Amino acid sequence: MDKPADIAGAVAALRAGGLVILPTETVYGLAADAADPRAVAAVYAAKGRPAFNPLIAHVADVATARRIAVFDDRAERLADRFWPGPLTLVLPIADEGAVCDLARAGLDTVAVRAPAHPIAHALLLAFGGPLVAPSANRSGRPSPTTYADALEETGEAAAATLDGGPCAIGLESTVVALLDTPRLLRPGAVTRADIEDLIGPLAEAEADARRSPGRMTRHYAPNLPLRLNAEERLAGEVWLGYGRWGDAGGFNLSPDSDLTEAAANLFAYLRAADRADGASGIAVAPIPDTGLGEAINDRLRRAAGFVG
Ligand code: TXA
Ligand code: MG
Repeated sequence: MDKPADIAGAVAALRAGGLVILPTETVYGLAADAADPRAVAAVYAAKGRPAFNPLIAHVADVATARRIAVFDDRAERLADRFWPGPLTLVLPIADEGAVCDLARAGLDTVAVRAPAHPIAHALLLAFGGPLVAPSANRSGRPSPTTYADALEETGEAAAATLDGGPCAIGLESTVVALLDTPRLLRPGAVTRADIEDLIGPLAEAEADARRSPGRMTRHYAPNLPLRLNAEERLAGEVWLGYGRWGDAGGFNLSPDSDLTEAAANLFAYLRAADRADGASGIAVAPIPDTGLGEAINDRLRRAAGFVG
């Protein structure tokens, strides 16, 4: 029998401890009941994800988030401005039962986000509680930005699947920790400048990575090796261009040099380049490091194995 593909079927699957392929505005997620340790364990298993790397609790609205996490004035201002949307806040945990220990990897903090995608929002409302939803890729691989890619990565482990079409943003949410000094743990579509305008300067993620465990490993990686800031294609390489750095044979993330378009195309084009017949590597053109470019270059460096 086909798996359920509607909200009611997805809610039933979640209540039974099952996993759901879920579209969001950033990337597709693999969702489970955040309060159910067995369901959360199944998420880690499906992704092959190390259990020291905590998950994001997704909520329908800020009222739900305030029940789970301790909101300070900075959190209130950021949520008021950017939720629902591609921003995750790391805050002290307030309700340890709502987001189980395993979901938080045993930390006394929790990452919360209210997604803007109408299907994600509808599912969260219908379910009535927080859902963990890591990107639906297997650990270390590029995040899926289409329904087909999500099914290919972890669809087998899901009890229900929701098709929301291609993801509008294409990069995972910005992650900001508001524990002591505000820190940018993962750049994203809500840019550094957007956040600093509201709450002042952001520190970098700590080098020891304990506060953002998911940042330690090689990530977002295709199978072929990546060569970054390439100004031309070498023999055997697939070309991933940007703006004027075009090439007849390959892909161009954005011929018009539009960073939003490049972000939306990034993971799908990395996957497509990875499938090219007989290629020995992927060469990526220079991409400006301003605005959304910071997040694009962050994902590219990690995909290439340069983990800073
Ligand atoms: O856009 C997104 O955020 C997507 C969609 C599906 O919502 N989800 C996503 O989840 O990217 P995931 O699990 O792939 O990435 C979560 C990131 C990881 O880098 C993890 O280490 C970090 O958030 N994180 C989660 N909880 C944390 C915590 N308590 N402290 C520090 N970092 C945390
Ligand atoms: Mg991920």
